[in-house]
Amino acid sequence: MGSVGMSADQLLNAERYQFITVLGGGSVENFETILDHLLAWDLLNWEEYETVRSPGQLYSSSRALLDMVMCKGARACELFILVWRQVFPRSQFLGIELKDYEPPDETDRSAAATQSARTLQRCRPSVVRRLHGRTAAALLLLHGCGHFTQYECDEIQLPIYTPSQQARKLLDLTKGKGDDAARVLLEYIESEPSPIKSVLDNARLKYQEKLSSTLAAQSRFLTNYAGTENMCLEDVYVNCTLETTDTTSGGGRLLSSVGLHDIFGSEGVFNRDADVVLIVGDAGSGKSTLLQRLQQLWAMRQHFQEFTFVFAFSCRRLNFIDGQVSLKMLLFEYCCWPDHHQDEVFQYILDHPEEVLFTLDGFDELKLQFTEQVKHCSPTKPAPALNLISNLLQGNLLKNTRKVVSSRPNAVNAALRKYLRKEFALKGFSREGIQAFIRRRHGGGSGSDAEHILHFVEANPAVHGLCHVPFFCWIVSKCHEQLMQGGEAPAQTMTDIYLLVLDHALLHCTHHAQVGDDILPAHISTIFHLGKLAMDGLLSCNYVFSASQLQEAQISEEDISMGFLVQSRSFSRVRAATRNRNYEFLHITIQCFFAALHIASSEDVGESALSSLFRAREKETSTCLKSAARIERFSLSCLRCGLQTDRRCKAMFRDAEKSNLHITASFVSGLLSGRHKHLMHKFSGSPRQSKKSKLVKGYMAKGIEKHFLSIPPAVRDEKKSMHALPEFVWWIKCIYEMQDDDLAKQAVSNLEVDHLKLTYCGIGPLECTALAYVLRHLKNPVGLQLDYNSVGDIGIEQLLPCLGNCQSIYLRANNICDRGAATLVEQALGCSNLQKMALFHNNLTDDCAENFARLLKHKDNFLALRLGNNHLTATGAVALAEGLKQNNSIQFLGLWGNKVGDAGASALAKALEDNTSLIWLSLVDNNIGGRGARGLASMLKRNTALQELCLEENSLIDEDVQHFAEGLQNNTSLRVLKLSNNKITKKGMEFIVSALKHNVTVASIWLGGNQATAEEIEEVTKAEARLTF
Ligand SMILES: Nc1ncnc2c1ncn2[C@@H]1O[C@H](COP(=O)(O)OP(=O)(O)OP(=O)(O)O)[C@@H](O)[C@H]1O
Ligand SMILES: [Mg+2]
Repeated sequence: MGSVGMSADQLLNAERYQFITVLGGGSVENFETILDHLLAWDLLNWEEYETVRSPGQLYSSSRALLDMVMCKGARACELFILVWRQVFPRSQFLGIELKDYEPPDETDRSAAATQSARTLQRCRPSVVRRLHGRTAAALLLLHGCGHFTQYECDEIQLPIYTPSQQARKLLDLTKGKGDDAARVLLEYIESEPSPIKSVLDNARLKYQEKLSSTLAAQSRFLTNYAGTENMCLEDVYVNCTLETTDTTSGGGRLLSSVGLHDIFGSEGVFNRDADVVLIVGDAGSGKSTLLQRLQQLWAMRQHFQEFTFVFAFSCRRLNFIDGQVSLKMLLFEYCCWPDHHQDEVFQYILDHPEEVLFTLDGFDELKLQFTEQVKHCSPTKPAPALNLISNLLQGNLLKNTRKVVSSRPNAVNAALRKYLRKEFALKGFSREGIQAFIRRRHGGGSGSDAEHILHFVEANPAVHGLCHVPFFCWIVSKCHEQLMQGGEAPAQTMTDIYLLVLDHALLHCTHHAQVGDDILPAHISTIFHLGKLAMDGLLSCNYVFSASQLQEAQISEEDISMGFLVQSRSFSRVRAATRNRNYEFLHITIQCFFAALHIASSEDVGESALSSLFRAREKETSTCLKSAARIERFSLSCLRCGLQTDRRCKAMFRDAEKSNLHITASFVSGLLSGRHKHLMHKFSGSPRQSKKSKLVKGYMAKGIEKHFLSIPPAVRDEKKSMHALPEFVWWIKCIYEMQDDDLAKQAVSNLEVDHLKLTYCGIGPLECTALAYVLRHLKNPVGLQLDYNSVGDIGIEQLLPCLGNCQSIYLRANNICDRGAATLVEQALGCSNLQKMALFHNNLTDDCAENFARLLKHKDNFLALRLGNNHLTATGAVALAEGLKQNNSIQFLGLWGNKVGDAGASALAKALEDNTSLIWLSLVDNNIGGRGARGLASMLKRNTALQELCLEENSLIDEDVQHFAEGLQNNTSLRVLKLSNNKITKKGMEFIVSALKHNVTVASIWLGGNQATAEEIEEVTKAEARLTF
């Protein structure tokens, strides 16, 4: 920032936007404190003060204030900067160098001090501080003396005003009451003890210290299974892939290399007035862990120090707050209690909301339908905790505090979206993330355990795909020994690896020296009890269990010692001392797994409950709320009587939380698969499993069929296409868990579409594994469109088995790197059906170009390659050109939005001189200038196939157009030449006009966005109608 050396008025002028942004986006308190000073120094008169103080519109008031100050000249600007420094001591967040200026001369102050009203104004900032929290007493006095009416007193003390605002209101009203009233007030202030500021600072610092040491302790360990493994977060934390959309670049580019520190940055902000940052991700993708890391970084003073206080809430625990609480209670009793000066600390929070951060984990678990209907604005009045949270998010309470909310995707409704500042998608571990995680847990170095595990994982695509979900990666690393001894049936599915956890736990808690088949029967009752508890909880959206609930479910200490139930973290030490211990499953997916074990093995869960679990439901929003009402009614013993229980379960499955039910259903499918028949028989000892298995297979086949039946018939002359809904992906995942080839075959046997569209369906590596498992049975090849998912390089590995059944594959915006592209090409070389690939908006560089060149060289039926908006340069284009020279099938080549430049364009042009297949070439926005244009123009003289050449958004000038004009005179194939948004003037356009006199093939030349006036455009279009603007 070149602000050093500027005078104050120059600085305000140059950085006006920044000043307004900080002031307008900050708190009312800061704004009004600035006004206090300016009034005190007579820099603003009362009229001006009245004009700018309208707290509802901080941005416009800030703008007006800045204009006023700037109109008053250089000294006024200096004073403004002086007060700015006091109010925003962290001026670094402006990025501007602020000088220290002299305060106003004090001499005339004493002269005027005889008038009390004047003194009140002159000392306004300190008077406001001293009246802070004492307005009621001052008003009592003023009312007693007859200066204020009761109505005025009430009006000033309305709870919508903060104490500072009340003090200001009192001062403003006193001004109109004459000097007598001012004198009473002044005397009152002077009779009171010294300013409270230092006490306040002290109290704030003490509380900040306590809060950060509490959070540091709470965030130190990851709660993990068996209680024996207390892993330090710092030691195991690996960055997950976070994605957001860049809103500044019109097209909404996907930003995939963002990190935790970008959460509060300006990238990806789509609503500047909102202050909620949302992080969405599937189960086990690491949302809670990410928030924990954020809290830890703040508490250890390593990051996020712009916040004075961080309050961390878990929605799961918030659900448990009974009765009504005030905001103050919520913060102090449920997060951290200030040992001294509670009122002052709370006041500081109210006055400085921009210094406060709330983290809210697991919004999907909140038993509240987020609406704007219940308004609550008072920070002191009690209300149900969930209402407070809802109003906090809306900004009715503590406006301008920052909020980071994590949630599973489905729970975010339109009402909440209105309050989102920006949104991130958490996509689990990348390949490097998996490596880092395993190395951290098992030690690095060649020959180490870590390298063996990694070798195994990377050699088993299905396991590699699973590891992309951090929680699954943890299981794999934890149970690697059993996993690697897998024998003839290595783990493939999510169910398989959860069975490994079970196996691992049994092995480690068994007292028998001998291991093997004997372990399970000894623990059947534990598994049964845990399963029952898990399912009851799931049905009522209950994930925390009290001691009495455990007792009712007959869970013994020994059952707990297996490690699947962990003690719930309490809200604070105060609460911990007064409450009984609560337990929860170590992860919610573990609860789903135990519930699935119960559903698959228990006699009490029959056909109707099972069908209800698998029925595809239309309702999208979280249904936790409805279920909340059932918690009390729902007794844990409801499963006692067979048929009746089955019906009840059926009804409750309909209301339970959908995303967890989906996970449970996937586990049920896995457990009922033929591969686990033997194991499941041990659980139940009854033959009903095979009946259940048949039923479940039937539901799946029906579910998929229903999807296919809903496909509309093909539009005439167009390919028949199906846009799958996320539910389709879930069915496919269930089929994969079943590992039943016949079922997979049957599922797609009726799929008669040419194009399968799965855009925005949340498809990651795991889903790719399942998709490939099913789609490899397709009878006819399809176009597979997977745009806007998170397939990534690991997902590409998973898709390989079905690539042979794809005619085309579209992978726009899927975070694919060169490695993924190389894997794709390698497989594509052997897939005769595959003719088209689209990979725009990924992370491809020149390193992948050789692979695509190889594809072009060896695949003589290949039709279309689209690599737009990647990072290819001239080097990549030169390599591609080599492949192009040896190919005579390709018809479409898209390189829009790369940086091939002149050298790249020339190489491609050379390769195309004798090419007879390519009909469409896009080199839009590729830094192409004179040399590239000459090459392309001379290619046009020889080429006889190219029909459309797109060169928009380059640096072409008139001289280059002259070359194109010559090229066109000798060309008989080109129909469309796109030259919009270059630097062409009328002169260049005239070259085209004369060239077209000799060319009848060209249908249109696009020239919009160049350097011609409206009259010139009219003139040239009159001369040649084929010019398009
Ligand atoms: N960034 C990470 N580094 C290391 N381990 C991680 C990371 N993220 C998650 N894990 C592991 O995965 C487990 C599950 O993650 P977490 O509980 O954060 O998932 P979640 O997204 O909150 O799931 P849910 O939607 O069910 O609440 C953690 O307990 C930890 O073992
Ligand atoms: Mg979580």
